[in-house]
Amino acid sequence: MGKYVVEGSKKLKGSVDISGSKNSALPIMAAALLTEEECVLENMPTLRDINIMDSIMQSIAVETRFEKQNNIMRIKAGGAVYNADNNELMGKIRASFLTAGPLLSRFGRARISLPGGCSIGSRPIDLHLKGLAKLGAEISKEFGVVELKCKKLKGADIYLDFPSVGATENLIMAASLADGVTTVSNAAMEPEIGDLCTFLQKMGAEIYGKGTDTVRVVGSPGLKGAIHRIIPDRIEAGTFMLIGAACGEIRLNFVRTEHLRPIVAKLREAGAEVVEDGDAVVVKNTGCIKNTDIKTMPYPGFPTDMQPQFMSLMALGQGTGVINETIFENRFMQVNELNRMGADIKTEGSSAIIRGVKRLTGTNVRATDLRAGAALIISALAAEGTTEISDIYHIERGYCGIDEKLRHIGADIRRVDQG
Ligand code: UD1
Repeated sequence: MGKYVVEGSKKLKGSVDISGSKNSALPIMAAALLTEEECVLENMPTLRDINIMDSIMQSIAVETRFEKQNNIMRIKAGGAVYNADNNELMGKIRASFLTAGPLLSRFGRARISLPGGCSIGSRPIDLHLKGLAKLGAEISKEFGVVELKCKKLKGADIYLDFPSVGATENLIMAASLADGVTTVSNAAMEPEIGDLCTFLQKMGAEIYGKGTDTVRVVGSPGLKGAIHRIIPDRIEAGTFMLIGAACGEIRLNFVRTEHLRPIVAKLREAGAEVVEDGDAVVVKNTGCIKNTDIKTMPYPGFPTDMQPQFMSLMALGQGTGVINETIFENRFMQVNELNRMGADIKTEGSSAIIRGVKRLTGTNVRATDLRAGAALIISALAAEGTTEISDIYHIERGYCGIDEKLRHIGADIRRVDQG
């Protein structure tokens, strides 16, 4: 257990290198289960969630080697088994359920622990299961484990009732070793799904419509090992962009600006200065953030994973803004903590009304989940005085050395181990 101690109100200036995307790396690790051959993943972020997925892979007899000094992970699933049913380990991350599609498709059988509840919402897996059933899986549940069986998955037309990121990924992976053609309509279009498809194509999968809402997969009899470089993390980049807008001037290296469109648009609308420069982006505080309205949407809409951080920026903005959260039912956990720092935020159902205040002041706050924790870091950096953020293991799930990166640009942030 650790906490961050932040002395706020420091002017930040400098450049930050953005790490590989957590949300690409997790499904791509699961995709490596589709072949007996070795896969080599480059630009892997060193994060808690990645370490947990690594342990999950090892728990099903997959050989992995994570060379953290050069961000390379080697995965060889030649000896993999189909029972990913260690409830405690699997319950630690929701992405554990992404092993279902690959294991079922490769072995005709999979035993997967149900992912646990989550503080930001109930996060069911019905869309994953409905799609896998359409591909021919027989599904039962007992003792917290989903059992999936089939002789051989068969391609099918699948319509997703909602463009779920995880369901789209699970189904594309399952379809890549099925007999025949699968079409996933109303598929999620997040860039991380495009990255997964690129990796699968390198493994030999035949996939059309990558990055669109209709993905067609022609099943292959087998897939081979591949080498792949994970795309930059657009949410880490977005978080640092907001830190720049709130506290100084930050240049972010190694980003894909095309993935940052909704964040750039909203930052400019709010009055921040954003300059795109090849694979870098510079964000500057102009001293005047005008509050605006935001509605979270599936990609290319405004990402729910940036909503809490934008709320922190708006807490110190001018005027009133409304955030409408449409993806998760309980994603305003940061509001109480921000209000403890002096923010003026009210929630009403899926909306939050943010009235900008002149100053925030440091106090003790708690990271309730990953992105809420990131929001608290932004507010702590902008606030007067000292803020102590506890339960930072949530933040470390998804941000690679965030305290170190912040110190590099002039922030006064210390990580203190507790107990
Ligand atoms: C992924 C991201 C997460 C991001 C989210 C939405 C990873 C590892 N995580 O999560 O950071 O916040 O996308 O952009 O990539 N739903 C159902 N039934 C299902 C599946 C989902 O009702 O079977 C609902 C969920 O409860 C939620 C919404 O759909 O309300 C979005 O979930 P989904 O897109 O599946 O998110 P994840 O893949 O879990």
